[in-house]
Amino acid sequence: MRVRSGRLGVAAAYFDGTPEQVGRIRTWCAGATGLDEEAAAAVKLVVSELVTNAVRHSASGARCGRVKVTVEVLPGQIVLVSVTDDGPRALRPTTVPTLTTHISDTATCGRGLRLVAALAEKWWWTGFRGGPLTVWALIDPHRDLVA
Ligand SMILES: Nc1ncnc2c1ncn2[C@@H]1O[C@H](COP(=O)(O)OP(=O)(O)OP(=O)(O)O)[C@@H](O)[C@H]1O
Ligand SMILES: [Mg+2]
Repeated sequence: MRVRSGRLGVAAAYFDGTPEQVGRIRTWCAGATGLDEEAAAAVKLVVSELVTNAVRHSASGARCGRVKVTVEVLPGQIVLVSVTDDGPRALRPTTVPTLTTHISDTATCGRGLRLVAALAEKWWWTGFRGGPLTVWALIDPHRDLVA
């Protein structure tokens, strides 16, 4: 059996809110967990969707925008990730993270948080509409994704 060790403790970092940073954040996140590549796969997918959302749907994607990412390996090796954005983008409608419940095959967006909901044990957001928001996800890296 493969040993998937994890690193207990919390890691936090700020990144520029650009699409180019998303890959770097995936790598940073996986490294911060100390998990092997297979076990870190779900963590990487989730953080990728959350950071992409911050960049696309908040001021994090505007000039000088940033995202704050935290990764914590909790006892039992459950991973808690959070992504904090810069709040609403000027001249754009204010939105909050919302799970799309019905989606057609031809819809071009609305799948990111569905993916997060499927991969995470639980996800939620904190903050106030109109201010910076933090989206959280609890991931069990040992859950068999292809049951
Ligand atoms: N950090 C955020 N700040 C504000 N609104 C958000 C944030 N993240 C998500 N949302 C809102 O929740 C909606 C659903 O997000 P979701 O990731 O499921 O779909 P999407 O980003 O629109 O498309 P896709 O992820 O499929 O490319 C978004 O369209 C947006 O309105
Ligand atoms: Mg999305």
